[in-house]
Amino acid sequence: MTAVETDPRQDAGVTEGFDVGRVVQPDRVHGSVYTSPEIFQREMDTIFRTGWVYVAHDSEVSEKGDYLTRRVGSDPVIVVRGKDGRIRVLLNRCSHRANRLCNAPQGNAGSFRCPYHGWTFSNDGSLTAVPMRTGYGEAFRQVREDLALAEAPRVDSYGGFVFASLSPEGPSLAEHLGRATRAIDRLLALSPTGTLDLRSGWMKHLHRANWKMVVENNVDGYHALFTHASVYDAVRRAKVSHVPSKVDVVVRDLGQGHSEIDYSAEYRKLDEEFVWYGRAPREKLPEYVAAMEEAYGPEQAHDALVVGPPHTLIWPNLFLAEMSVMYVEPVAPDETVAYTGISAMPGQDRFNERTLRRAEGAMGPAGFLIADDGEIGMRNQAGLAAHDPEWLVLARGLETDIEDDTGIVNADKSAETPQRGFYRRWADVVGQETRG
Ligand code: FES
Ligand SMILES: [Fe+2]
Repeated sequence: MTAVETDPRQDAGVTEGFDVGRVVQPDRVHGSVYTSPEIFQREMDTIFRTGWVYVAHDSEVSEKGDYLTRRVGSDPVIVVRGKDGRIRVLLNRCSHRANRLCNAPQGNAGSFRCPYHGWTFSNDGSLTAVPMRTGYGEAFRQVREDLALAEAPRVDSYGGFVFASLSPEGPSLAEHLGRATRAIDRLLALSPTGTLDLRSGWMKHLHRANWKMVVENNVDGYHALFTHASVYDAVRRAKVSHVPSKVDVVVRDLGQGHSEIDYSAEYRKLDEEFVWYGRAPREKLPEYVAAMEEAYGPEQAHDALVVGPPHTLIWPNLFLAEMSVMYVEPVAPDETVAYTGISAMPGQDRFNERTLRRAEGAMGPAGFLIADDGEIGMRNQAGLAAHDPEWLVLARGLETDIEDDTGIVNADKSAETPQRGFYRRWADVVGQETRG
Protein backbone atom coordinates (compact mmCIF):
# COMPACT_ATOMS: atom_id res chain seq x y z
CA MET A 1 0.00 0.00 0.00
CA THR A 2 1.29 3.43 -0.82
CA ALA A 3 1.25 6.24 1.71
CA VAL A 4 -1.69 8.59 1.48
CA GLU A 5 -0.55 12.03 0.50
CA THR A 6 -1.78 14.71 2.83
CA ASP A 7 -3.80 17.47 1.29
CA PRO A 8 -2.40 20.76 2.57
CA ARG A 9 -5.78 22.45 2.01
CA GLN A 10 -7.27 20.30 4.75
CA ASP A 11 -5.95 22.61 7.42
CA ALA A 12 -4.36 25.46 5.60
CA GLY A 13 -7.14 26.69 3.34
CA VAL A 14 -6.45 27.71 -0.23
CA THR A 15 -4.37 30.83 -0.36
CA GLU A 16 -2.57 31.72 -3.53
CA GLY A 17 -2.73 31.62 -7.23
CA PHE A 18 -6.42 32.13 -7.78
CA ASP A 19 -7.42 35.03 -9.96
CA VAL A 20 -11.19 35.09 -9.81
CA GLY A 21 -11.36 37.48 -12.77
CA ARG A 22 -10.16 34.63 -14.95
CA VAL A 23 -13.33 32.64 -14.32
CA VAL A 24 -16.05 35.22 -13.60
CA GLN A 25 -16.72 38.33 -15.64
CA PRO A 26 -19.80 40.60 -15.57
CA ASP A 27 -21.44 38.89 -18.55
CA ARG A 28 -20.01 35.36 -18.50
CA VAL A 29 -18.56 32.56 -16.39
CA HIS A 30 -15.87 30.06 -17.23
CA GLY A 31 -16.85 26.38 -17.51
CA SER A 32 -14.29 25.41 -14.87
CA VAL A 33 -16.44 26.93 -12.10
CA TYR A 34 -18.69 23.90 -12.58
CA THR A 35 -16.05 21.22 -13.09
CA SER A 36 -12.80 22.05 -11.32
CA PRO A 37 -12.10 20.08 -8.10
CA GLU A 38 -9.82 22.93 -6.94
CA ILE A 39 -12.58 25.49 -7.36
CA PHE A 40 -15.05 23.19 -5.62
CA GLN A 41 -12.65 22.85 -2.69
CA ARG A 42 -12.19 26.59 -2.63
CA GLU A 43 -15.97 27.07 -2.50
CA MET A 44 -16.13 24.75 0.50
CA ASP A 45 -13.34 26.72 2.21
CA THR A 46 -14.87 30.12 1.49
CA ILE A 47 -18.64 30.17 0.81
CA PHE A 48 -19.43 27.28 3.14
CA ARG A 49 -16.77 27.73 5.83
CA THR A 50 -16.83 31.51 6.24
CA GLY A 51 -20.38 32.59 5.41
CA TRP A 52 -23.93 31.88 6.60
CA VAL A 53 -25.44 28.62 5.34
CA TYR A 54 -29.03 27.47 5.78
CA VAL A 55 -29.18 24.32 7.95
CA ALA A 56 -32.72 23.72 9.21
CA HIS A 57 -36.04 25.21 10.21
CA ASP A 58 -36.74 25.61 13.92
CA SER A 59 -40.00 23.62 13.62
CA GLU A 60 -37.89 20.56 12.80
CA VAL A 61 -36.15 20.76 16.17
CA SER A 62 -39.01 22.12 18.22
CA GLU A 63 -38.54 19.83 21.27
CA LYS A 64 -35.49 19.54 23.48
CA GLY A 65 -33.33 16.71 22.14
CA ASP A 66 -34.72 16.92 18.58
CA TYR A 67 -31.89 16.55 16.09
CA LEU A 68 -31.22 16.40 12.35
CA THR A 69 -28.08 15.41 10.49
CA ARG A 70 -27.23 17.87 7.74
CA ARG A 71 -24.17 19.29 6.00
CA VAL A 72 -22.57 22.70 5.92
CA GLY A 73 -20.67 22.44 2.65
CA SER A 74 -18.56 19.33 3.06
CA ASP A 75 -18.82 19.27 6.87
CA PRO A 76 -21.42 16.87 8.28
CA VAL A 77 -23.24 18.45 11.22
CA ILE A 78 -25.87 17.63 13.81
CA VAL A 79 -28.47 20.37 14.26
CA VAL A 80 -29.82 19.77 17.75
CA ARG A 81 -31.91 21.52 20.37
CA GLY A 82 -30.03 20.91 23.59
CA LYS A 83 -31.51 20.22 27.00
CA ASP A 84 -31.05 23.94 27.68
CA GLY A 85 -33.40 24.74 24.77
CA ARG A 86 -30.66 26.20 22.58
CA ILE A 87 -30.18 25.12 18.96
CA ARG A 88 -26.59 24.13 18.26
CA VAL A 89 -24.90 23.01 15.08
CA LEU A 90 -22.39 20.39 16.21
CA LEU A 91 -19.76 18.97 13.89
CA ASN A 92 -20.68 15.33 13.34
CA ARG A 93 -17.26 13.91 14.16
CA CYS A 94 -16.30 12.05 17.31
CA SER A 95 -13.48 13.82 19.09
CA HIS A 96 -11.73 10.49 19.72
CA ARG A 97 -10.82 9.18 16.29
CA ALA A 98 -13.22 11.01 14.03
CA ASN A 99 -15.99 8.48 13.56
CA ARG A 100 -19.22 9.99 12.31
CA LEU A 101 -21.07 10.20 15.57
CA CYS A 102 -24.71 10.39 14.57
CA ASN A 103 -25.92 8.33 11.63
CA ALA A 104 -29.69 8.77 11.68
CA PRO A 105 -31.29 11.49 9.53
CA GLN A 106 -33.30 12.75 12.51
CA GLY A 107 -34.55 11.81 15.94
CA ASN A 108 -34.67 12.82 19.57
CA ALA A 109 -31.84 12.05 21.97
CA GLY A 110 -30.37 13.35 25.20
CA SER A 111 -26.95 12.12 24.15
CA PHE A 112 -25.00 10.64 21.25
CA ARG A 113 -22.83 7.56 21.69
CA CYS A 114 -20.10 6.97 19.17
CA PRO A 115 -20.54 3.61 17.42
CA TYR A 116 -16.77 2.97 17.36
CA HIS A 117 -15.54 2.97 20.99
CA GLY A 118 -18.56 4.24 22.83
CA TRP A 119 -17.57 7.77 23.80
CA THR A 120 -20.75 9.59 24.74
CA PHE A 121 -21.60 13.24 24.25
CA SER A 122 -24.50 15.17 25.71
CA ASN A 123 -26.79 16.95 23.22
CA ASP A 124 -25.02 20.19 24.18
CA GLY A 125 -21.81 18.69 22.77
CA SER A 126 -19.95 18.01 26.03
CA LEU A 127 -18.13 14.72 26.49
CA THR A 128 -19.89 12.85 29.27
CA ALA A 129 -18.59 9.28 29.22
CA VAL A 130 -15.47 7.46 28.06
CA PRO A 131 -15.49 3.67 28.45
CA MET A 132 -12.51 2.23 30.37
CA ARG A 133 -11.27 5.70 31.00
CA THR A 134 -8.42 4.72 33.33
CA GLY A 135 -6.56 3.44 30.30
CA TYR A 136 -5.84 7.04 29.37
CA GLY A 137 -4.08 7.85 32.65
CA GLU A 138 -4.56 10.77 34.99
CA ALA A 139 -3.80 13.62 32.58
CA PHE A 140 -6.93 12.77 30.61
CA ARG A 141 -9.14 14.37 33.26
CA GLN A 142 -7.86 17.80 32.27
CA VAL A 143 -8.17 17.41 28.53
CA ARG A 144 -11.72 16.16 28.70
CA GLU A 145 -13.17 19.63 28.30
CA ASP A 146 -11.20 20.15 25.13
CA LEU A 147 -12.77 17.00 23.77
CA ALA A 148 -16.28 18.42 23.56
CA LEU A 149 -17.75 18.26 20.07
CA ALA A 150 -16.79 21.18 17.88
CA GLU A 151 -19.70 23.45 17.06
CA ALA A 152 -20.51 26.19 14.59
CA PRO A 153 -19.51 29.36 16.45
CA ARG A 154 -22.52 31.24 15.12
CA VAL A 155 -26.10 30.05 14.77
CA ASP A 156 -28.97 32.46 14.17
CA SER A 157 -32.42 32.42 12.63
CA TYR A 158 -34.88 34.60 10.80
CA GLY A 159 -38.57 33.71 10.59
CA GLY A 160 -37.70 30.24 11.88
CA PHE A 161 -35.09 29.57 9.17
CA VAL A 162 -31.90 28.58 10.98
CA PHE A 163 -28.51 29.45 9.53
CA ALA A 164 -25.03 28.55 10.75
CA SER A 165 -21.64 30.07 10.17
CA LEU A 166 -18.49 28.04 10.77
CA SER A 167 -16.61 31.30 11.17
CA PRO A 168 -16.67 33.20 14.47
CA GLU A 169 -16.42 36.49 12.59
CA GLY A 170 -18.14 38.20 9.73
CA PRO A 171 -21.39 40.01 9.00
CA SER A 172 -24.42 39.22 11.18
CA LEU A 173 -27.19 37.05 9.77
CA ALA A 174 -29.39 40.15 9.34
CA GLU A 175 -26.62 41.81 7.32
CA HIS A 176 -26.11 38.65 5.29
CA LEU A 177 -29.82 38.31 4.47
CA GLY A 178 -30.30 41.96 3.57
CA ARG A 179 -33.27 42.29 1.24
CA ALA A 180 -33.88 38.53 1.30
CA THR A 181 -35.71 39.00 4.62
CA ARG A 182 -38.59 40.40 2.58
CA ALA A 183 -39.02 37.07 0.83
CA ILE A 184 -39.24 35.27 4.16
CA ASP A 185 -41.70 37.92 5.39
CA ARG A 186 -43.80 37.39 2.28
CA LEU A 187 -44.03 33.68 3.04
CA LEU A 188 -44.84 34.28 6.71
CA ALA A 189 -47.60 36.71 5.67
CA LEU A 190 -49.46 33.69 4.26
CA SER A 191 -49.48 31.97 7.63
CA PRO A 192 -52.36 32.78 9.97
CA THR A 193 -50.01 32.22 12.92
CA GLY A 194 -47.06 34.03 11.31
CA THR A 195 -45.04 30.83 11.67
CA LEU A 196 -44.27 27.84 9.46
CA ASP A 197 -43.99 24.11 9.93
CA LEU A 198 -41.36 22.33 7.83
CA ARG A 199 -41.94 18.85 9.21
CA SER A 200 -43.90 17.39 6.29
CA GLY A 201 -40.86 15.46 5.08
CA TRP A 202 -38.17 15.98 2.46
CA MET A 203 -37.89 14.55 -1.02
CA LYS A 204 -34.26 13.86 -1.75
CA HIS A 205 -32.94 14.21 -5.29
CA LEU A 206 -29.46 13.37 -6.44
CA HIS A 207 -28.44 15.73 -9.25
CA ARG A 208 -25.50 14.77 -11.45
CA ALA A 209 -24.66 18.43 -11.74
CA ASN A 210 -22.69 21.10 -9.95
CA TRP A 211 -24.56 22.65 -7.02
CA LYS A 212 -24.56 26.07 -8.68
CA MET A 213 -26.35 24.67 -11.74
CA VAL A 214 -29.08 23.44 -9.43
CA VAL A 215 -29.56 26.71 -7.54
CA GLU A 216 -29.07 29.09 -10.48
CA ASN A 217 -31.68 27.22 -12.45
CA ASN A 218 -34.26 27.98 -9.76
CA VAL A 219 -34.19 31.66 -10.66
CA ASP A 220 -33.79 31.16 -14.39
CA GLY A 221 -36.87 32.63 -16.05
CA TYR A 222 -35.65 31.74 -19.52
CA HIS A 223 -35.82 27.95 -19.58
CA ALA A 224 -39.38 27.14 -18.55
CA LEU A 225 -41.04 27.23 -21.96
CA PHE A 226 -38.50 24.79 -23.33
CA THR A 227 -37.33 22.57 -20.46
CA HIS A 228 -40.86 22.33 -19.06
CA ALA A 229 -42.81 22.32 -22.32
CA SER A 230 -44.84 19.33 -21.12
CA VAL A 231 -46.07 21.31 -18.09
CA TYR A 232 -47.36 24.10 -20.27
CA ASP A 233 -49.17 21.58 -22.47
CA ALA A 234 -50.83 19.96 -19.47
CA VAL A 235 -51.71 23.25 -17.80
CA ARG A 236 -53.18 24.71 -20.97
CA ARG A 237 -55.50 21.74 -21.33
CA ALA A 238 -56.51 21.63 -17.66
CA LYS A 239 -57.01 25.40 -17.50
CA VAL A 240 -55.94 25.38 -13.85
CA SER A 241 -53.23 27.95 -13.72
CA HIS A 242 -52.41 31.35 -15.00
CA VAL A 243 -49.38 31.55 -17.22
CA PRO A 244 -48.12 35.05 -16.46
CA SER A 245 -47.48 37.40 -19.35
CA LYS A 246 -43.95 38.70 -19.71
CA VAL A 247 -44.79 42.30 -18.97
CA ASP A 248 -45.33 42.39 -15.22
CA VAL A 249 -43.07 39.59 -14.09
CA VAL A 250 -39.63 40.78 -13.18
CA VAL A 251 -36.34 39.18 -12.22
CA ARG A 252 -34.37 40.81 -9.48
CA ASP A 253 -30.85 40.67 -8.12
CA LEU A 254 -31.45 41.44 -4.44
CA GLY A 255 -27.75 41.91 -3.72
CA GLN A 256 -25.32 39.65 -1.83
CA GLY A 257 -26.08 36.75 -4.16
CA HIS A 258 -29.81 36.60 -3.34
CA SER A 259 -32.19 36.83 -6.29
CA GLU A 260 -35.74 36.18 -7.36
CA ILE A 261 -38.42 35.94 -9.98
CA ASP A 262 -41.21 38.21 -8.78
CA TYR A 263 -44.77 37.69 -9.99
CA SER A 264 -46.34 40.08 -7.48
CA ALA A 265 -46.95 42.97 -9.91
CA GLU A 266 -48.72 40.62 -12.30
CA TYR A 267 -50.83 39.15 -9.51
CA ARG A 268 -51.69 42.60 -8.14
CA LYS A 269 -52.81 43.69 -11.57
CA LEU A 270 -55.15 40.71 -11.74
CA ASP A 271 -56.25 41.39 -8.13
CA GLU A 272 -57.30 37.78 -7.87
CA GLU A 273 -56.61 35.52 -4.89
CA PHE A 274 -54.76 32.19 -5.20
CA VAL A 275 -53.57 32.62 -8.79
CA TRP A 276 -50.29 31.23 -7.40
CA TYR A 277 -52.18 28.25 -5.94
CA GLY A 278 -53.67 26.81 -9.10
CA ARG A 279 -56.46 29.40 -8.92
CA ALA A 280 -58.18 27.45 -6.14
CA PRO A 281 -61.44 29.23 -5.32
CA ARG A 282 -61.58 30.48 -1.71
CA GLU A 283 -64.67 28.29 -1.10
CA LYS A 284 -62.35 25.29 -1.37
CA LEU A 285 -60.18 26.61 1.45
CA PRO A 286 -62.73 27.91 3.98
CA GLU A 287 -60.80 27.24 7.23
CA TYR A 288 -57.60 28.75 5.88
CA VAL A 289 -59.27 31.88 4.49
CA ALA A 290 -61.21 32.37 7.74
CA ALA A 291 -58.03 32.00 9.81
CA MET A 292 -56.21 34.50 7.57
CA GLU A 293 -59.02 37.06 7.90
CA GLU A 294 -59.24 36.51 11.62
CA ALA A 295 -55.48 37.03 12.00
CA TYR A 296 -54.92 39.95 9.66
CA GLY A 297 -58.31 41.46 8.81
CA PRO A 298 -60.01 41.06 5.41
CA GLU A 299 -57.94 43.69 3.58
CA GLN A 300 -54.47 42.52 4.57
CA ALA A 301 -55.51 38.89 4.15
CA HIS A 302 -56.78 39.63 0.64
CA ASP A 303 -53.52 41.35 -0.25
CA ALA A 304 -51.42 38.42 0.99
CA LEU A 305 -53.62 35.93 -0.88
CA VAL A 306 -53.31 37.97 -4.08
CA VAL A 307 -49.56 38.50 -3.89
CA GLY A 308 -48.74 34.94 -2.83
CA PRO A 309 -45.44 33.42 -1.79
CA PRO A 310 -41.90 34.28 -2.93
CA HIS A 311 -39.79 32.63 -5.62
CA THR A 312 -36.47 33.57 -4.11
CA LEU A 313 -32.99 32.12 -3.90
CA ILE A 314 -31.27 32.88 -0.61
CA TRP A 315 -27.51 32.66 -1.07
CA PRO A 316 -25.98 30.17 -1.13
CA ASN A 317 -28.22 27.12 -0.61
CA LEU A 318 -31.85 27.92 0.22
CA PHE A 319 -34.64 28.35 -2.30
CA LEU A 320 -38.12 29.52 -1.31
CA ALA A 321 -40.04 27.97 -4.20
CA GLU A 322 -43.48 29.46 -3.61
CA MET A 323 -45.00 27.01 -1.11
CA SER A 324 -42.12 24.58 -1.53
CA VAL A 325 -38.73 24.91 0.10
CA MET A 326 -35.52 23.53 -1.34
CA TYR A 327 -32.06 23.37 0.13
CA VAL A 328 -29.01 21.89 -1.53
CA GLU A 329 -25.93 20.10 -0.31
CA PRO A 330 -22.92 20.10 -2.64
CA VAL A 331 -21.23 16.68 -2.72
CA ALA A 332 -18.66 16.92 -5.54
CA PRO A 333 -18.07 19.21 -8.53
CA ASP A 334 -20.60 17.20 -10.51
CA GLU A 335 -22.86 15.94 -7.73
CA THR A 336 -25.47 17.68 -5.59
CA VAL A 337 -28.23 16.54 -3.30
CA ALA A 338 -31.37 18.69 -3.25
CA TYR A 339 -34.04 18.36 -0.58
CA THR A 340 -37.54 19.60 -1.30
CA GLY A 341 -40.36 19.99 1.18
CA ILE A 342 -43.26 22.33 1.81
CA SER A 343 -44.04 25.28 4.03
CA ALA A 344 -47.00 24.03 6.02
CA MET A 345 -49.21 26.40 7.99
CA PRO A 346 -49.68 25.40 11.65
CA GLY A 347 -53.24 24.23 12.31
CA GLN A 348 -54.29 24.18 8.62
CA ASP A 349 -54.38 20.46 7.84
CA ARG A 350 -56.67 20.64 4.80
CA PHE A 351 -54.70 23.47 3.24
CA ASN A 352 -51.41 21.72 3.98
CA GLU A 353 -52.55 18.50 2.41
CA ARG A 354 -53.42 20.37 -0.77
CA THR A 355 -50.02 22.08 -0.71
CA LEU A 356 -48.33 18.72 -0.31
CA ARG A 357 -50.20 17.20 -3.28
CA ARG A 358 -49.31 20.22 -5.40
CA ALA A 359 -45.65 19.93 -4.38
CA GLU A 360 -45.59 16.23 -5.22
CA GLY A 361 -47.01 17.08 -8.65
CA ALA A 362 -44.26 19.62 -9.30
CA MET A 363 -41.28 18.36 -7.30
CA GLY A 364 -42.02 14.68 -6.59
CA PRO A 365 -40.21 11.77 -8.26
CA ALA A 366 -43.07 11.45 -10.77
CA GLY A 367 -43.67 15.19 -10.79
CA PHE A 368 -43.60 17.66 -13.63
CA LEU A 369 -40.81 20.09 -12.83
CA ILE A 370 -37.91 18.66 -10.92
CA ALA A 371 -37.41 15.66 -13.19
CA ASP A 372 -37.02 18.04 -16.15
CA ASP A 373 -34.62 20.26 -14.24
CA GLY A 374 -32.58 17.29 -12.99
CA GLU A 375 -32.21 15.91 -16.50
CA ILE A 376 -31.31 19.29 -18.00
CA GLY A 377 -28.74 19.87 -15.23
CA MET A 378 -27.11 16.54 -15.96
CA ARG A 379 -26.95 17.33 -19.67
CA ASN A 380 -25.48 20.71 -18.83
CA GLN A 381 -22.73 19.00 -16.87
CA ALA A 382 -22.23 16.57 -19.75
CA GLY A 383 -21.95 19.44 -22.23
CA LEU A 384 -19.21 21.02 -20.14
CA ALA A 385 -16.97 18.08 -20.97
CA ALA A 386 -16.54 19.61 -24.43
CA HIS A 387 -13.79 22.16 -23.83
CA ASP A 388 -14.72 24.72 -26.45
CA PRO A 389 -16.19 27.36 -26.10
CA GLU A 390 -14.74 27.83 -22.62
CA TRP A 391 -17.29 30.36 -21.37
CA LEU A 392 -21.02 30.33 -20.57
CA VAL A 393 -22.94 33.43 -21.61
CA LEU A 394 -24.88 35.40 -18.97
CA ALA A 395 -25.37 38.61 -20.96
CA ARG A 396 -29.11 38.42 -21.48
CA GLY A 397 -30.73 41.68 -20.37
CA LEU A 398 -27.44 43.28 -19.34
CA GLU A 399 -28.38 46.48 -21.10
CA THR A 400 -31.89 46.67 -19.71
CA ASP A 401 -31.11 46.10 -16.01
CA ILE A 402 -32.36 48.95 -13.85
CA GLU A 403 -31.20 49.64 -10.31
CA ASP A 404 -33.83 50.80 -7.81
CA ASP A 405 -34.26 50.50 -4.06
CA THR A 406 -35.36 46.85 -4.41
CA GLY A 407 -32.16 45.77 -6.16
CA ILE A 408 -31.19 45.34 -9.81
CA VAL A 409 -34.40 44.66 -11.68
CA ASN A 410 -35.13 43.52 -15.18
CA ALA A 411 -38.64 43.73 -16.59
CA ASP A 412 -37.88 40.80 -18.87
CA LYS A 413 -38.41 37.65 -16.84
CA SER A 414 -35.97 35.80 -19.10
CA ALA A 415 -33.06 38.15 -18.34
CA GLU A 416 -29.99 36.59 -16.72
CA THR A 417 -29.98 39.23 -13.99
CA PRO A 418 -30.25 36.72 -11.10
CA GLN A 419 -27.29 34.72 -12.44
CA ARG A 420 -25.17 37.86 -12.78
CA GLY A 421 -25.99 38.77 -9.17
CA PHE A 422 -25.15 35.26 -8.04
CA TYR A 423 -21.73 35.34 -9.70
CA ARG A 424 -20.92 38.85 -8.50
CA ARG A 425 -21.29 37.54 -4.97
CA TRP A 426 -19.48 34.32 -5.86
CA ALA A 427 -16.49 36.29 -7.14
CA ASP A 428 -16.43 38.40 -3.95
CA VAL A 429 -16.51 35.41 -1.65
CA VAL A 430 -14.48 32.83 -3.57
CA GLY A 431 -11.93 35.47 -4.61
CA GLN A 432 -11.21 36.46 -1.01
CA GLU A 433 -7.91 35.67 0.61
CA THR A 434 -8.46 32.65 2.83
CA ARG A 435 -6.57 31.72 5.97
CA GLY A 436 -2.99 30.67 5.36
S1 FES B 1 -13.91 7.18 17.33
FE1 FES B 1 -15.55 7.68 18.61
S2 FES B 1 -15.17 6.59 20.39
FE2 FES B 1 -13.51 6.13 19.16
FE1 LIG C 1 -37.14 24.48 -14.10
